Amino acid sequence: MPEIIIIAAIDENNGLGYRNHLLCHLHDDLKNFKRLTTGHTIVMGRKTWESLPVKPLPNRKNIILTRDVDATFTDSFSSKSLNHLSELCSNDEKIFIIGGAEVYQQAMELADRLIITHIHHRFVADVFFPQIRKETWLKVKETAHPIDEKHNYAYDVCEYVRVDK
Ligand SMILES: NC(=O)c1ccc[n+]([C@@H]2O[C@H](COP(=O)([O-])OP(=O)(O)OC[C@H]3O[C@@H](n4cnc5c(N)ncnc54)[C@H](OP(=O)(O)O)[C@@H]3O)[C@@H](O)[C@H]2O)c1
Repeated sequence: MPEIIIIAAIDENNGLGYRNHLLCHLHDDLKNFKRLTTGHTIVMGRKTWESLPVKPLPNRKNIILTRDVDATFTDSFSSKSLNHLSELCSNDEKIFIIGGAEVYQQAMELADRLIITHIHHRFVADVFFPQIRKETWLKVKETAHPIDEKHNYAYDVCEYVRVDK
């Protein structure tokens, strides 16, 4: 089975997005997202797909979750459930779950690793990331990024591994 990795950027309230948009633009964090996911499979909910300015995200196998049996997505795959991913991804080394809230909620049970950008701010948000429970997730890496001319907010990129398997 491929390794399942959740990747997300969240604020101090676990906020993820507002009105189907991200909460802010963090230049280097988006570059890091691109670096990590390029060449791999990415899985997202239909609403996150709709929010993407460029679709599909290039040089990645894009899989969109929808319950609409008639849905089709340009140059991408659709899946009717997270449980069907193994059919689409049996040869993949890694699968990145890239959102949104509804999909993260379900994927937390399946994930092996979390890569979470913790943004040092509280935004107005209408979708939230699930609680990262200490009994389940151990932080193994943390990299701090200060405010600078390209970044209005400081943030830490943290990696967590599952410890309750
Ligand atoms: N901060 C971040 O890192 C980050 C990352 C990604 C997204 N976001 C934000 O998150 C928000 C979107 O999240 P959301 O929770 O509203 O929507 P979402 O999770 O992107 O998509 C929800 C949709 O996915 C489909 N779906 C979910 N679970 C499914 C399952 N088990 N089987 C089949 N289909 C399934 C359904 O599509 P159908 O209705 O078509 O059936 C559902 O309506 C936006 O604000 C976006 O900007 C933030």
